[in-house]
Parts: sequence; C-alpha cells; structure tokens
Amino acid sequence: MDPTQPLAGRDAKAADCGSLAARRTIARILKVNHAGEHGAIRIYRSQIAIARWRYPDIVQELEEMLGHEVGHRARFAEAMPSRHAKACRMLILWGIGGRLLGTGTALMGRNAIWACTAAVEEAVHRHLNDQLAFLWRRDQELYALIASIKSEELSHLDHAEARLTSRGPIVHILRRSIDVITEVLIFLSTSGDSLRMARDLRTK
Ligand SMILES: [Fe+2]
Ligand SMILES: [Fe+2]
Repeated sequence: MDPTQPLAGRDAKAADCGSLAARRTIARILKVNHAGEHGAIRIYRSQIAIARWRYPDIVQELEEMLGHEVGHRARFAEAMPSRHAKACRMLILWGIGGRLLGTGTALMGRNAIWACTAAVEEAVHRHLNDQLAFLWRRDQELYALIASIKSEELSHLDHAEARLTSRGPIVHILRRSIDVITEVLIFLSTSGDSLRMARDLRTK
C-alpha cells in the first residue's frame, strides 16, 4: 500500500476509527491532567496555610511549587478546547481530596509534607511517561507541553526526596497510602477513563 495515497473503503473507515480513538484518548489525557493539577494546587495551598505558622522556613519552597502547578493547570486548560476535552465532572472531588491531603500531611509535620509531595509527584510521573509514549507521534504540540511540565514535576519530586529526613515505615505507609488515594481519585474523577486510557496506551 502506498502511504501517500488516500485510503478507500474499509481501510479509510478503519483509519477514521483509529484516529477517533486516539482523539478520545488525547481528550482523556487533558481531562485527567487538568484535574490532577487542580488537586495539586489545593494540596499546596492547604500546606502553605499551615506552614505559615508552623514551618515558615519552607513556605517559600511550597509557594514556588504552587506557582508551577497554577501554570500547569492554565496550560492544560488552554490546550483543552481545540482537542474537545472537557473539564472533569468531579473537579470538586479533587479540590476536597487535595485540601484533606494537604491539611492532614501539614498537621503531621514537615516530613509528611515532603512524603506527600514525593508520593503525588511519583504518581504524576508514571502517568506523564505513559502519555508521552502515546503522544509523540500523534500530537507534537501536546507532547512538547507535557514534556516541559514533566521536567518541573521531576524537580518537585527531587526536591521532596532531598528534603525527606526520614524514610522509616511510617513514611513508607504514608507514601503508599497517598499513592493509592491519588490513583483512586484519578479513577473516580474520570469515571474509569484513567483505566481505559492506560489500556489504550498499552495496546496502541
Ligand atoms: Fe503540575
Ligand atoms: Fe508538581
């Protein structure tokens, strides 16, 4: 088959279905990323509110990361309309989850704050890597956007790992719990889209 010639009949229909499925996956990627950034913003804002009176020395670091997350959410929001991606129906759940996680960890201490950041950023990293693998031949613009955001998320992860002063069983349990909560939130907020997307990413 000559790849430069237009497809006809059944081949054309198959190609259309393929690109439709790809577009749906791209819309899911944006929806879940936008919701995730919204949750991250709520986490950092809640932690900052408590850190102001309990650990003022780390407020500036948290504010810097918050600034990145605000930028990420805006950049994903900007990329959504042209790809027919809608905001998550359960965005409020991300806000509540983020607030609970941010407040709870900040009250537990600074180590819990960094354990929270490390766990969330690790989960983010897994998803972004999958997404980049899917996007690199399908949507160069979104690929570049996610790649640049990923480098900032990686700096958050590195920063949190460097600031963790304990890696004992409590921190391990906390990180695992936050990882599970993050995955459940992704699943719930996308009504299962995250699992379908992961399956799509594996099969394409
Ligand atoms: Fe982010
Ligand atoms: Fe981040």
